[in-house]
Amino acid sequence: MNIQETIEQLKREKDAVILAHYYVEPQVQAAADYVGDSFYLSKLAAGLPNKTLVFCGVSFMGESGKLLSPDKTVLMPDMEADCPMAHMVTREMVQAAREKYPDLAVVCYVNSTAEIKSWSDVCVTSANAVDIVKNLPNERILFIPDKNLARYVARQVPEKSIIIPDGYCPVHEKMKAEEISALKEIHPQAKVLAHPECNGQVLEMADYIGSTSGIIAYAADSPQKEFIIATEEGVLYELQEKRPDAAFYFAKTRPVCEGMKRITLEKVAHALRTGENALEVDERLAGPAGETLKKMLEIASGKGKR
Ligand code: 13P
Ligand code: SF4
Repeated sequence: MNIQETIEQLKREKDAVILAHYYVEPQVQAAADYVGDSFYLSKLAAGLPNKTLVFCGVSFMGESGKLLSPDKTVLMPDMEADCPMAHMVTREMVQAAREKYPDLAVVCYVNSTAEIKSWSDVCVTSANAVDIVKNLPNERILFIPDKNLARYVARQVPEKSIIIPDGYCPVHEKMKAEEISALKEIHPQAKVLAHPECNGQVLEMADYIGSTSGIIAYAADSPQKEFIIATEEGVLYELQEKRPDAAFYFAKTRPVCEGMKRITLEKVAHALRTGENALEVDERLAGPAGETLKKMLEIASGKGKR
């Protein structure tokens, strides 16, 4: 039996499904039952009938799955697969802002630990952040932890007063605007599609800004044949599936998320076979963090779907 057949058999035995983010390796995406952006994966986790969910992504994704489906077994192929940005907020910072502004809403990006979610009022993903912030009754918002997404939301929702944090995604923040302009010079017809975690200089060059699903949907529906993609390179697999006729260009310093690339088919099979790496969330955090996520699902419209 090859590794794919082994995984299929283990899935049947354990009543398991595999959920994968667009940034994991192509062979892992190909073996998954569902592939999508963070919003889509969160929504799915809340409603799947299977006993076991295998999350091929970084730890906050599995944690969100467990928070929304506490009775299910959530397996992580690699417990070290993590998102550095998910830790870039301190409790002191949130408390200080709440004390200064009693009317504050604390909005946390899904790329955050369960602990950070437990201090927040509502969660968002890149697919729904603008809509959710717009619909909150509060005028003043602390948006954590991503400064680039926070600035992007602030521009889209000028009627709100948004406090910008310090956190960032190392992969998107360090993408060089000069490398994007160099691509644009060689391919002047290409549309620039960027994730809102990119730094401001890159976002200024973008023809479209959106989540990974948004970027893929834009390219899938566009009459254009060339695209400069300002997000993690894993999206190329789905982009080529959807638009085999189109050309996709990435910055010379390839944007690669190390956490996502830790997931392999061998680790998926191992987790399924042994039941190792079952994710648990501290029970004191699980209640409030789960509420923050559920509030997002309640407010959100049906965006983020593949
Ligand atoms: P999406 O919400 O677009 O899936 O992005 C998640 C992420 O980690 C981006 O770096
Ligand atoms: Fe985190 Fe950035 Fe990786 Fe997304 S690409 S999971 S934000 S480190």
